Amino acid sequence: MNLQQQINYRIQPGGKLIGNLRVPGDKSISHRSIMLGSLADGVTEVTGFLEGEDSLATLNAFRQMGVAIDGPTQGRVTIQGVGMHGLQVPDGALDLGNSGTSMRLLTGLLAGQGMAVTLTGDSSLSGRPMRRVIDPLSRMNASIGSTEAFTAPLQIHPQSRLQGIDYQMPMASAQVKSALLLAGLCAKGETCITEPAPTRDHTERMLQGFGYPVRRDGNRICLTGGGRLSACEIDIPADISSATFFLVGVSIAEGSEMVLQHVGINPTRDGVISILKLMGAEIELLNEREVGGEPVADIRVTSTDLHGIDIPEELVPLAIDEFPAIFVAAACARGETRLRGAEELRVKESDRIQVMAEGLQRLGIEADPRPDGIVIQGGALQGGKVESHGDHRIAMSFAMAGLRATGPIEIADCANVNTSFPGFVPSAADMGLQIAEVKK
Ligand code: S3P
Repeated sequence: MNLQQQINYRIQPGGKLIGNLRVPGDKSISHRSIMLGSLADGVTEVTGFLEGEDSLATLNAFRQMGVAIDGPTQGRVTIQGVGMHGLQVPDGALDLGNSGTSMRLLTGLLAGQGMAVTLTGDSSLSGRPMRRVIDPLSRMNASIGSTEAFTAPLQIHPQSRLQGIDYQMPMASAQVKSALLLAGLCAKGETCITEPAPTRDHTERMLQGFGYPVRRDGNRICLTGGGRLSACEIDIPADISSATFFLVGVSIAEGSEMVLQHVGINPTRDGVISILKLMGAEIELLNEREVGGEPVADIRVTSTDLHGIDIPEELVPLAIDEFPAIFVAAACARGETRLRGAEELRVKESDRIQVMAEGLQRLGIEADPRPDGIVIQGGALQGGKVESHGDHRIAMSFAMAGLRATGPIEIADCANVNTSFPGFVPSAADMGLQIAEVKK
């Protein structure tokens, strides 16, 4: 993690976004392509892989466990699968940087591997809650050490075979669901998870793509341990979470129009499109198609006047990573926007409710943080200095706010944008955002 070099963004006010852009590959699918490809029998070929620090942390972790992986070269990765029991004990701890997905999914995947592994992360990841995976995995007979606060570093101790579980998840979390499904691959009998609300289903879809049967009955997902994965080809679409910054930027900046190409529009990820449309956004899906088991489209977006809404609670898990950008849209909308039922935002890469509220207030917007959401009054954005707290999505969201601000915006601590969107600054500048990196 490149935290020695402090990077700030400086955005000159105004401008518009025009053009066609394919944003980098989907982060969730990139992580899973490495994990499943490594455990498969045979050679998995991946295209469209996200060459960001988070997915590279997963890739390097599997290299440390003896998996031969070529690439990434322009999004191409070749994984020589070692089979379900072929991972080797790594030399040292696996450093997962800023990546919550790597840590939670690997904890599940490794709990059943019968080897001793330590997982570490940066200061943000080391503060994030891990009890949500430790508790159910312990019930499966895993043995996982952590700090007293149930945070990383995590020590996974060798254990005899795990036992399947029938687990009612207390929160809507794709990471917890995926950790348990990955643990279930090596467990005795059936592992079933019931989710309180639908969350991203890439793990289930991809397991099936690797030939592993997964059963879904309403909100209950089951698989039986002891099977094998067969290598396959994976074509990763562009990440809707990265496309979101442009959906919002175009919507709020008069005279803007863009087409975001080849974006994954999986129905468990497309909440941002529903929310922005409810706010009046002009968004059109073109060339809808299916690529490797995932729905994909080109998304045309045109600037328009937005209005505030009550965000429907059922859309929260389907847009969970998109709220920092949605809050910027709300700041530029006519009237009030209210969000509830989103307490999960407080335990992301930063406390996204608090950090966004403070940043918006700095820019002259009335934003009232609540325990499980926020109330934002649309208004006139001013220039000013905001803190991203090292949170990639906060940094990119405030960058887009510059399009509507009356003065320059400086955003502190933006190096972690590389975790999910390498090349954000040149891409955004190409489209018309007046953004520059300032190295400190
Ligand atoms: C992810 C799931 C989400 C999301 C994260 C990626 C995944 O987390 O916020 O960025 O790839 O499974 P939760 O499932 O904890 O909400």
